Amino acid sequence: MQESIAQLKAEIEAFEISSKESLEAYRLKYLVRRGVIAELFDQIKSVPKDEKPKIGKLLNELKQLAEAKFETAKTRFEQSVESAPEIDLTLPGRRFFLGSEHPVQKVLGDMKRIFFAMGFSEATGPEIELDDYNFTKLNFPDDHPARDMQDTFFIRKGDGEDVVLRTHTSPVQIRAMLAQKPPLRLIMPGKVYRNEAVSARSLCVFHQLEGLYVDRGVSFADLKATLYSFAKQMFGGDVRLRFRPSFFPFTEPSAEVDITCYLCGGKGCRVCKQSGWLEILGCGMVHPNVLRNCGIDPDEFSGYAWGMGIERATLLRYGIADIRYLLENDVRMLEQFE
Ligand code: DAH
Repeated sequence: MQESIAQLKAEIEAFEISSKESLEAYRLKYLVRRGVIAELFDQIKSVPKDEKPKIGKLLNELKQLAEAKFETAKTRFEQSVESAPEIDLTLPGRRFFLGSEHPVQKVLGDMKRIFFAMGFSEATGPEIELDDYNFTKLNFPDDHPARDMQDTFFIRKGDGEDVVLRTHTSPVQIRAMLAQKPPLRLIMPGKVYRNEAVSARSLCVFHQLEGLYVDRGVSFADLKATLYSFAKQMFGGDVRLRFRPSFFPFTEPSAEVDITCYLCGGKGCRVCKQSGWLEILGCGMVHPNVLRNCGIDPDEFSGYAWGMGIERATLLRYGIADIRYLLENDVRMLEQFE
C-alpha cells in the first residue's frame, strides 16, 4: 500500500498540466469520486489495524498534494484568460460604407422612367464614332466650326474616314434611323466628349440624353407637349418652359428650352443671373436632309428630336453649384445622395 502511494505521488508530481484539456484529464484521473486516490481510500479497510493511522496520513497528504496542484494550475489558466485583450463594449461600432447611386445615374434613371412611361424605348451607340455619323449625316457642312480641333477629340483624321470621340449623342439618331424604319420613338443616353476648358459649368466628358420621334404627321406641338410633360414630372408641377428660336444643323426649326430657375422660381437671382430662366436642352424638327441621309422620305415622315445634358439637369435638380463636384468622387458629396 505504502508503495502504491509513493508511486502515485511520483506520478502526480510528474503530470504535466499544459492546457485546459490536460487539467480536466488530471481531475478525472485523480480527483473525482471514482478516481485513483479515492480508490486507495477504499482499500484502507483491508490495511492491518496498526498501520491504518500511518497509511491514512500518507493518503491524506497525497490527496492534498493532488488538490493543491490542481488549484494552482486552474488559477494559472483563469489568469491567462483575464489577461486576454479586453473588449470595450462602450466603443462605437465600426461603420460599414455602402455604395450608393451616383446623382447623375439617379437623374438618368428618373428621366428613363418618365420617357419609358410615354412609350419611348432606349437605344445606345459607341462613344468612338465615325465623323460621318457625328457630323456629316447630321447635316453639318464640311467647314462647320464644331468640327474644329478645339471642340472635337479626333481619334483618326485625314484619311477620309475620320473617327472622333462623339461630341453629342445625336449620331445615335443616325444609327437608329439607318437600322429601323419609322415609327421610331427612342431615348439615347450616354457619355459625350468635348475639348473644352474645365470650369464650374463645363467638363470635357459629360452625359446627354437624346430623344427622337419619327412617324407620319409628327409636329412641333407634339415636341412641346412631350417636353412639358417631362419637365413637370422631373422638376415639379410648378415649372414653366420657354422655347427660344435657335439653330442646329440637324433640326429645322430649332429651339433652345429654358425652365424657370429652381432657386428663385422665376423671380431672378444669382443662379439664373437675374433672368429667372435656366437652359436645359436643345431641340427641333428633324431636318429633311437628315431623314434623307438615313433613307427616310421627308415627304412621308417627319420627326422631332432633342438633346439635353444630364449633369446640367442634376445641378438644377439638387442645386449643386459646381459641375466638377460630380466627377471628384468625394464621398462627403456622394453620401448626400444615399
Ligand atoms: N446635339 C446638340 C448638342 O450637343 C443638342 C441637340 C439639339 C440635340 C437639338 C438634338 C436637337 O437632338 O434636336 O448641343
